[in-house]
Amino acid sequence: MEFVVNGKTAKVDAGADTPAVELLREGLGLTGAKPACGSGVCGACTILVGGTPVVSCLTPGAAIEGRDVTTVEGLGGTHPVQRAFAAHDALQCGYCTPGFVVAAAAFTDRWRAAHGDVAPTRSQIARAMAGHLCRCGAYESILAAIAAACAGRHDGDDPVPARVEAWEKITGRARYTTDVRLEGQLEGVIIRATRPHARVGAVHVEGAAVAELMPADRVVRYVGQPIAAVAAPTRAAALAAAASAEVEYTPLPAALTTAEAEQPDAPVVYGSRAERRGAPKSNEAPLSPAKWQGNVRGPAAASWRAGTAMRRIDEARERGDQRLVSATFTTATQVHTAMEPHACVARWDDKGELHLHLSTQAVSAVAAEAAKRWSLKPAQIHIVADHVGGGFGSKVHITSDLVAAVELARITAAPVRVVLDRAEELTDGGSRPATRIELSLLADAGAGLAAMSLDAWSDGGTSIGSNAAALSRYIYGTAPRRLRDFDVLTHRPPAAPFRGPGGPPMAWALEQAVDEIAHRCGEDPIALRRRWDGNPKRRALYDWAAALPAWTGRQPVGSPDGRFRRGVGVAATNWLYLLDPGTEIELVVQRGVVVARTTTQDIGTGSRSVIADLVRTELGLPAGRVRVEVGRTGTVYGPASVASSATPSIGPAAIDAARRLRAALPAGPVLESLGDAEGVRVVGKRRRDRRGYVTPFPIGNLAIGRGFAGAVHLTEVEVDARLATVRVTRVWCGIAAGHIYAERLARSQCEGGIIQGIGYALFEQRHVDPATGVVLTDNLEDYRIPGIGDTPEISLHFHQEGWEHVTGHGVGLGEMSTVGMAASIGNAVHAATGWRPHDLPIRPDRLREGIS
Ligand code: FES
Repeated sequence: MEFVVNGKTAKVDAGADTPAVELLREGLGLTGAKPACGSGVCGACTILVGGTPVVSCLTPGAAIEGRDVTTVEGLGGTHPVQRAFAAHDALQCGYCTPGFVVAAAAFTDRWRAAHGDVAPTRSQIARAMAGHLCRCGAYESILAAIAAACAGRHDGDDPVPARVEAWEKITGRARYTTDVRLEGQLEGVIIRATRPHARVGAVHVEGAAVAELMPADRVVRYVGQPIAAVAAPTRAAALAAAASAEVEYTPLPAALTTAEAEQPDAPVVYGSRAERRGAPKSNEAPLSPAKWQGNVRGPAAASWRAGTAMRRIDEARERGDQRLVSATFTTATQVHTAMEPHACVARWDDKGELHLHLSTQAVSAVAAEAAKRWSLKPAQIHIVADHVGGGFGSKVHITSDLVAAVELARITAAPVRVVLDRAEELTDGGSRPATRIELSLLADAGAGLAAMSLDAWSDGGTSIGSNAAALSRYIYGTAPRRLRDFDVLTHRPPAAPFRGPGGPPMAWALEQAVDEIAHRCGEDPIALRRRWDGNPKRRALYDWAAALPAWTGRQPVGSPDGRFRRGVGVAATNWLYLLDPGTEIELVVQRGVVVARTTTQDIGTGSRSVIADLVRTELGLPAGRVRVEVGRTGTVYGPASVASSATPSIGPAAIDAARRLRAALPAGPVLESLGDAEGVRVVGKRRRDRRGYVTPFPIGNLAIGRGFAGAVHLTEVEVDARLATVRVTRVWCGIAAGHIYAERLARSQCEGGIIQGIGYALFEQRHVDPATGVVLTDNLEDYRIPGIGDTPEISLHFHQEGWEHVTGHGVGLGEMSTVGMAASIGNAVHAATGWRPHDLPIRPDRLREGIS
């Protein structure tokens, strides 16, 4: 097959049906186009054919034969849109970026030819980019970048981007694990269970190497659980081998819904103590001890004067007290679905050492786990994760892609790549558990909160880790409260920690109940929170929010009429400050450049750029004299990108390292001394906070720092009463996380968290067939995540005081930006319509029933 790619004639030996994306990536090594969804929904594989954007996953080779094809590599890094993406930080993990850039370049050229140098409106850009998805939620910056490029503001010089690796991502040069192709590499595919609960006997596969992936008891507990993996020279051959596999099942009864699972005679997911100990976890924190009864684990209690709380609530109920709000709130399962799926390329070398290219958000932790699992010394594990296409909590530990690749590589003595497809990712790639929360909140006359009772049931399939109740322990003073967490286990896929685990469902219930009390008492909801909330940092945020014109000019609850009804809602977030106290950063002078290294990774959060900026600023060096190498083992210990802990860990360590290097060099400007300092090496540490930590020693490498962080979301929605839809039009988000290490990157993080919160509130809901246990929403059409057209105008406010006791004066913020988002939308919908949503997502059928 012959075609012209980026101005050069190319020949590839492949069938006419072979998707163009495969021809380009596997045949020509042009890996800029990413095959992320496989169904033409996400746009990450967009290329230009004859100047027109097409999704190359759905374009057969025959359709590009003899045609002119342009990939992101062909834009050469000189298109105004590429400069604009760099200048506006219109990317985070960067996995969707090549697709956006290619389509945006074509749109910008067409637009300018038709309209001249005029910026299109947000909705015009959103319509043009409607076929593209970004799970990091970089939409606000993408809108700004495309508008600026169309207006001719990026025709000149290359800007200095906020993100040091921006050009690699914008030009398609950045190599992700999915792009790795080693000499002699085989492709691995996982064979997955088709029964929700069964004992597995023999597994027969013809014509391919096979590695078994089952637990010791050979029991599968959900449809989609890995059973074995096969390797073959091509993915097509591996898929064919997997499809021909014969698995012997002895079916066992299954509990496929929480209602079934709660029955006294329900089939149990875990029958023994040992099995329960091996249950996967849906949050990073250590779990409080709790009893098991069948499939129910709990209560795990975090109560404080529970008896008093219940007595007050019961008495208030008896007397019909209006200041008692009792309600049930539910949330749906939200799937991580990072744009780069779970992926691993494994290779064993002649010395028996293991080499991994891995899409991970925890290089250090996974290296330690892998060493333990395969009985290797830490120095025998070599991980490379140069670029990682998102994670959000789903890539923290050893996952099935890694185990499959390693075992197959051992069996075949060849490198093996395993990349999950989107259906696997949406089935077994991790999710936030669904929840049911029963909440009673009692206000004291004229004072504050009198009592709270919050019972949370987490529905995380085969996983445990309910913590929504525990998280409500530390907000709104010290009033008595009974807080109980339960897990209800089912034969469905396990959940995993997801950005702010437990926080969004907790806020969904609590912040709406607080709003309801304010409504019943006729009090301003911000004023009431300010009165109840003793946190001085959040009080400053309340003052900021209360002064916003959107708040002062809002209409009374439920007063808007007609088809389009606007309302404004508020929600507060209380959050922990976590850090990894063992974090180190080494600086080495090499050929006149300061090279910074640590075993952390950059999953789109900007850790590489934070280190570069701090070292450069501290030493007074120009950008080209500092290089950061992260995403690899073989250097000093670095943190996982979890729990908003990475930046408050690496920031102070980078500053400490820079100061040590300055001290190690001769007096005078550092730039002048670098030439004579070849090989000088220092290691900076994350120095202890002035007041120490809450936890006496790190738990899972993390310490809980002193003080609570906070956020306040103010959200405006427009409810279309005829179509029963909700559109978020504007969001103001105040964050009290102290010193902001890199403002542009912090903004991008928070905007992304807000977008994910909108998805949680309005669209995202995993569906599992209650009869078979099959995940039905296994593609990005049926599992809907926010697109660029769902993006509101976002204003961020950082309150930077109150963290003077913390080394570096700043704490993490990524999780806080999402926790209160859905709750603020719920309160805004109530303000617009007078109807309060209790169940997420706020689907049209629910809204229609509520407002009719
Ligand atoms: Fe778009 Fe990560 S930057 S998916």
